[in-house]
Amino acid sequence: MFKPQITVLDAGGQYCHLIARKVRELGVYAEVRPSDTPASELAGRKGLIISGGPSSVYEAGSPRIDPAILNQGVGVLGICYGLQWMAYELGGEVSKGEKGEYGMAVLSAILPHPLFAGLNLGKVWMSHRDRVQSVPPGFHVIASTDTCAVAAMAHREKPLLAVQFHPEVAHTEHGAGILSNFIFGVCGCERDWDPKDRIGPIEAQIREAAGDRSIFFFVSGGVDSTVAYTLCLRALPPERVYGIYVDTGLMREGETEYVRDLFARLGAVAFHVEAAEDGFLQALKGVWDPESKRHIIGEQFVAVQERVLNSGQFAEGRWVLGQGTIYPDTIESGGSAQADLIKTHHNRVAGIQRLIDAGRLVEPLASFYKDEVREIGAELGIPAEFLNRHPFPGPGLAIRCLCSEVNQNFTQRPEGWLIPIRSVGVQGDSRSYRPVLMLDEPPSMDALLAASRLTNDLAEINRVIAKVAARVPVERMEVTRGFLTGGRLERLRQADAVVRRHCERSGFEAQVWQFPVVLIPAGDGHAPDSVVLRPIHSVDGMTAQVVLMPDDLLQAIARELLEIEGVAAVFYDLTHKPPGTIEWE
Ligand code: XMP
Repeated sequence: MFKPQITVLDAGGQYCHLIARKVRELGVYAEVRPSDTPASELAGRKGLIISGGPSSVYEAGSPRIDPAILNQGVGVLGICYGLQWMAYELGGEVSKGEKGEYGMAVLSAILPHPLFAGLNLGKVWMSHRDRVQSVPPGFHVIASTDTCAVAAMAHREKPLLAVQFHPEVAHTEHGAGILSNFIFGVCGCERDWDPKDRIGPIEAQIREAAGDRSIFFFVSGGVDSTVAYTLCLRALPPERVYGIYVDTGLMREGETEYVRDLFARLGAVAFHVEAAEDGFLQALKGVWDPESKRHIIGEQFVAVQERVLNSGQFAEGRWVLGQGTIYPDTIESGGSAQADLIKTHHNRVAGIQRLIDAGRLVEPLASFYKDEVREIGAELGIPAEFLNRHPFPGPGLAIRCLCSEVNQNFTQRPEGWLIPIRSVGVQGDSRSYRPVLMLDEPPSMDALLAASRLTNDLAEINRVIAKVAARVPVERMEVTRGFLTGGRLERLRQADAVVRRHCERSGFEAQVWQFPVVLIPAGDGHAPDSVVLRPIHSVDGMTAQVVLMPDDLLQAIARELLEIEGVAAVFYDLTHKPPGTIEWE
């Protein structure tokens, strides 16, 4: 619908979205496309950016890029893998690294270049294995760091540039300045992007997609589906915008009432709650694997959708399905050829694909990032208090309720206790699935530093937790067999409600970006589960830092959590992202 000036070629991992978002924040519309998009399909772009990714140019199956993009006269900026690919493709030398470099480095300019115009170069974020040893013919090195000789290179005449560091991440000082110099200085882009200006065209698009059909929406109470629904309410007469909230049994306490209220205030007149708890729990019975949980939940959603759509009043097929899918959801699950799967989101499972193929889908926000969706929501008059709610995952409490097929012992180690419960993490741009180390001490600044060291040093773990309080001595605790049952979900719901109440009252809620409360099957025969607190700060969910909470608040929460039936202990997650993802699964 909108014409992009910049295309980011996705070479794997998730950096492509950070890059596209930064470019849009600078006021220029950017899209993400698979790395192997033919150059002919990119005609008309003012610039191309090749993103970073976990692969090595020497690996079979590493992201392929059409070399013709380098000869079109438009600016090309290679980042990380993009730099290595450009060097390799054009005859430079790339050396294979085993250990790699992850973290901050200080960038110094070697030669003046428009990419750095007006900037005092400073710290940059490095995350790579391979490195460029010598630049290709026609290029020169324009910046270095202590540990990386070719931190940036540029062609002497053509607009071909590449950097080893990541200008798109928040840690890189002047990263936005570098991207701005590229898009405006090198590529000559014009400012054309303000999501608020897009409301009119989106409404027109909704009317066109719906035709004389009505729109049927499954709302989750999340920001995306609510904004998408509200746009449809404005585009069509409200009685033609049907909203159903599926009560999956996997939601937080009080959520159904909250959502009912909100939609009444937004002017919805055809809103219903579909009770589907039994079906979801039945389908999830005995399942413990995180990816299977997500798939089953996705398929259950589709089954409920199909059932509702094919029932009674919807039987005549005069309906299309509306969804709050946002831009990253359309690409993250391997929609783009090279995306390394970290976690599957449910919006794009096979069942939804069938609806897309049948032309029965409207996704008004499919071109927008989260922060852009909030801007649109605010413009539509949706209350700020709602738009600023912490993000909550679609699969709900299911991915915060860890399961175990068997009982297993903890193992004592010099550093703490190894708990054989595996949780998801990120390593470079790939995924890890490993046990947790528990420190038998309360959370503190020292424990946090120790945790960072331990996740670096011990290859077998990706997460460290501290013990806040326990009813059962650690020596007597074990991993207990446990699945996604109504009882365990209710336990988690209660724990989550306790934490939320304390955090809202104390104002701590506003100090964190998200606060998952996780139930792990660790305890004894009487109290089989423990609660893990995971308050984090983040800008975009891509990276996250642990937030420590005031001790009196923590103690008050822990006291109340230990009163919940079946809870053995309370832990505090001390793992930044990376290496641990925000959610445990
Ligand atoms: P991770 O755990 O990958 O989470 O560090 C990053 C952000 O994504 C959310 N998340 C999900 N959201 N469906 C969703 O709708 C999912 O399956 C899912 N998994 C993670 C997570 O809450 C965090 O905000």
